[in-house]
Amino acid sequence: MGNDTDVQALRQMSGLVTPMALRVAVTLGLPDRLRADCGQAAAFGPGGAATDPATGPATGPATGPAADSAGADSAAQAAAPPASAVASAAATQAAAPAATADSVSQAVAPPAATAVPAAVAQTAVTADATAAASDSVAQAAAPAATAATITTAAGPTATQAAATITTAAGATATQGAATDLAAAELSAAVDLLAAELGVDPTALELLLGHLTTLGVVERTAAGYRTTEFGALLCEDAGNGLHNLLHHDTAAGRADLAFVDLAHSVRTGEPAYPLRYGQDFWADLSERPRLRDAFDRQMTWRIQERIPRFVAAVDWSRFGTIVDVGGGPGDLLAAVLAANPEVRGHVVDLEVGPARQNLARFEGRAKATEGSFFEPLPTGGGAYVLFDVLHDWDDEQAGRVLARVVEAMPADSRLIVVESIRGMGASTEMDLVMLVHFGGRERSVEELERLAESHGLVLDSVTEVADARCVLEFRKHPI
Ligand SMILES: C[S@@+](CC[C@H](N)C(=O)[O-])C[C@H]1O[C@@H](n2cnc3c(N)ncnc32)[C@H](O)[C@@H]1O
Repeated sequence: MGNDTDVQALRQMSGLVTPMALRVAVTLGLPDRLRADCGQAAAFGPGGAATDPATGPATGPATGPAADSAGADSAAQAAAPPASAVASAAATQAAAPAATADSVSQAVAPPAATAVPAAVAQTAVTADATAAASDSVAQAAAPAATAATITTAAGPTATQAAATITTAAGATATQGAATDLAAAELSAAVDLLAAELGVDPTALELLLGHLTTLGVVERTAAGYRTTEFGALLCEDAGNGLHNLLHHDTAAGRADLAFVDLAHSVRTGEPAYPLRYGQDFWADLSERPRLRDAFDRQMTWRIQERIPRFVAAVDWSRFGTIVDVGGGPGDLLAAVLAANPEVRGHVVDLEVGPARQNLARFEGRAKATEGSFFEPLPTGGGAYVLFDVLHDWDDEQAGRVLARVVEAMPADSRLIVVESIRGMGASTEMDLVMLVHFGGRERSVEELERLAESHGLVLDSVTEVADARCVLEFRKHPI
């Protein structure tokens, strides 16, 4: 049985629902789409700027400043429309082109709303406030079609709106009617958002419900809005989360292979190829978008710690540093910046970002596309393997080491930077390495043994940051 707290704790730890809901939310772009300061889309709901998948972003008055202010106003309006709010909504409607004419009726006719073009979303705002506005400014100034729509909305099929329009015209709305209208508006808002995103409206509402429970979005009178907490998932939040969780980024896509963790545990093999038909690196080679996302993630993960890695080693001892599997070349660039006499050379399967990164060191740095399972540039004073060995099982990691040793002059050094098992390396990362690549974190002793079997002697271990250590090896004297 176990006590309830423990059972609950295990239940929570083992839940897949919340992580997947967050990842799907990011993949759909919901935190960005629903955030308050997202241009015209103040909050999705009758005030948000919808985008029609077929026609692209809404244009014209519906997304202009007038629509914006209507969006911002709409929440307040749903509760108690101040005169200015009504005026702004009215102005929106007055400016709305004939094409948006159907919007009021659409907003109160749920199924049809999913097919509404984007521009319509803006005018839908006015479903409540407009009602009030309809008597005066809006109707007076609105194109004929808008007026006709209001008539339709007041017709027998749209009873809710009809009641509201009548009530609004008569000045007071009952609490119940307002609540019902809010529910109808919310539902219409979700319908529009679903249409924009090309997803099922009912399912989207369920997802938004759970995201509300998690505090990622919140209900407003006009729809849903990303909370401050949820904004941490936005693409420009600057914390790497979006790039880590999105299903179409390297990391987010690779994490989906965790469905086959059992395969990895049974066989010791990565699950990634089982799911995607080829290994992670081959996949990245074929999909530049994934490669870009991976390189961005590599840059983000260490950018704050780089000065500590630069300070941890006396790099000035080396004439040329060969950064093997150096990726975007962030470490090498920082080392070269701090050591003007040193030259650098990145070798990787993809060297576009490294070339850009190193361009400022004209003549002192280069990047060569190539595999570390093939012969490497010879003559380096130091060879660096930064977060490379943990991507591979012992056999493959040994092959990389063999290529490095083959290229090293007798007095050269190998600098390995890795998270170290038993010195703070995360057990979660162990499983990530296994499932994505078939690799794992290793202890100092394991790395020492592996290196020794390829003719290397461990000279020093320096703890630096994030459980990462710098291990310096030299070639065994023959
Ligand atoms: C975890 S990343 C580390 C990148 C870089 N060292 C850093 O710390 O930012 C591993 C790197 O190994 C590279 N890589 C994978 N297989 C390779 C191969 N066969 N030859 C050369 N590089 C390879 C990847 O392209 C990637 O840039």
